[in-house]
Amino acid sequence: MGRVMNESPLAPRPVSASLTTMTEFVLPTHANALGSVFGGQIMAWMDLCGAICAQRHTGRVVITAGVDELSFERPIKVGQVVRLSARVTATFRTSLELHVVAEGEDAVTGEIWPCVSAFLTFVAVDEGLKPAAVRAVEMVTEVDRRYAVEAKERRAHRLAKRKSGG
Ligand SMILES: CC(C)(COP(=O)(O)OP(=O)(O)OC[C@H]1O[C@@H](n2cnc3c(N)ncnc32)[C@H](O)[C@@H]1OP(=O)(O)O)[C@@H](O)C(=O)NCCC(=O)NCCS
Repeated sequence: MGRVMNESPLAPRPVSASLTTMTEFVLPTHANALGSVFGGQIMAWMDLCGAICAQRHTGRVVITAGVDELSFERPIKVGQVVRLSARVTATFRTSLELHVVAEGEDAVTGEIWPCVSAFLTFVAVDEGLKPAAVRAVEMVTEVDRRYAVEAKERRAHRLAKRKSGG
């Protein structure tokens, strides 16, 4: 039988317990006419990496509620590698915010460069697909705490935007 975390569904968990990484190799089917990976493909991988991280943290099925702005810094080409990582930055009532980072890597030369990063919000849902309470995240490191403080400001901004219909 597989290993199952035996704890209450709302017991807090540290950020480290759900850190998620993914590695993708860029094939011609992922690329545009210039031989670089499509932005939409990277966004899909970021969404998946974030969803896995959010499900690991919440122990629930999650739905993508929103993605804050993204800007692509440098392309990743066919034959190169996309390195993705996701971490929980803050949890709210039924939603949680994650930071997802995508980097390029040339596995031959060993070069690694920033490509894009974004804050994603996921909502945990119950069996009836209704928003469900999420466990808190334990802040252990200084970095955890800094992310959480800034997450509050981002959430206030998102809520204000939603309210104004923007
Ligand atoms: C996300 C969704 C489940 C929220 O449901 P809802 O009926 O609006 O529920 P609520 O208003 O009670 O909001 C639930 C939580 O979602 C958050 N939320 C809703 N829309 C959001 C958005 N656009 N950005 C960030 N957070 C959002 C709310 O702030 C709330 O968080 P909290 O409980 O932690 O305070 C619903 O809007 C939905 O299904 N959207 C479509 C999602 C989708 O199709 N995703 C792509 C495919 S997976």
